[in-house]
Amino acid sequence: MVGRIIAIDGHASTGKSSLAKYLSKEFNCIHINSGSMYRAITLYMINNNLIKYVDKDIDYLLSKLSDIRIEFKEVDDKLKLFLNEKNIEKDLNSLSVSNEVSNIAAIPEIRTKLVKLQREIDRSKGVIMDGRDIGSVVFPNADLKLFLTASIKVRAKRRYDELIKKGANITLIDVINNIEDRDHKDSNRKTSPLVIDDDAIVIDNTNKTIPDQVELIKEIVKSTFYN
Ligand code: CDP
Repeated sequence: MVGRIIAIDGHASTGKSSLAKYLSKEFNCIHINSGSMYRAITLYMINNNLIKYVDKDIDYLLSKLSDIRIEFKEVDDKLKLFLNEKNIEKDLNSLSVSNEVSNIAAIPEIRTKLVKLQREIDRSKGVIMDGRDIGSVVFPNADLKLFLTASIKVRAKRRYDELIKKGANITLIDVINNIEDRDHKDSNRKTSPLVIDDDAIVIDNTNKTIPDQVELIKEIVKSTFYN
């Protein structure tokens, strides 16, 4: 994997990050969850009472962007996201962040800031990056592009179980609505919409466990990189 890039894009809550985490161990490379960067900016906007400006005054909202510093730092051998020096990863997947993130991610200036950071990440060990536009925009020359999808029922149930385990007070319907809304917004925004790239390999993981997917991708990597 040294110096190589694997892009994993796909629909909301298809387990891209969990899969990428396993694969990065397998291939001894780094993993970057680009969605966590969009979520971190959204969290900042919510916590600082700025989210209302998405519709009202986008220039004012953008004037606050320079106050936001996003970095990945190694903690216990893993890369963790820091927002203005604070490790806030545990707050990123809440439904309140999920309900706003696609509006924030549709703003071109915010995408420009984050795409720049994503391209600056040290790729010497190899990188697996997951998101929505990794193969289409961030790394169009990625060595391998995967696109994950799954039935809405399975995606919602997985995310619901994950959030309930963390003690969230939500219903399955809340999660279904959020996933459908994000898929719609992410696929229909003007800047870098979610698309299936021509050279991406589509994996429907409705009936696949993570170990199933890891085995499948190891085979794909073998035939793509080492043939
Ligand atoms: O894990 P999940 O599929 O729920 O989403 P995520 O990867 O954490 O991404 C959250 C949101 O960030 C997405 O719904 C998109 O609106 C946005 N996103 C994006 O626009 N571009 C990316 N490369 C990654 C995420």
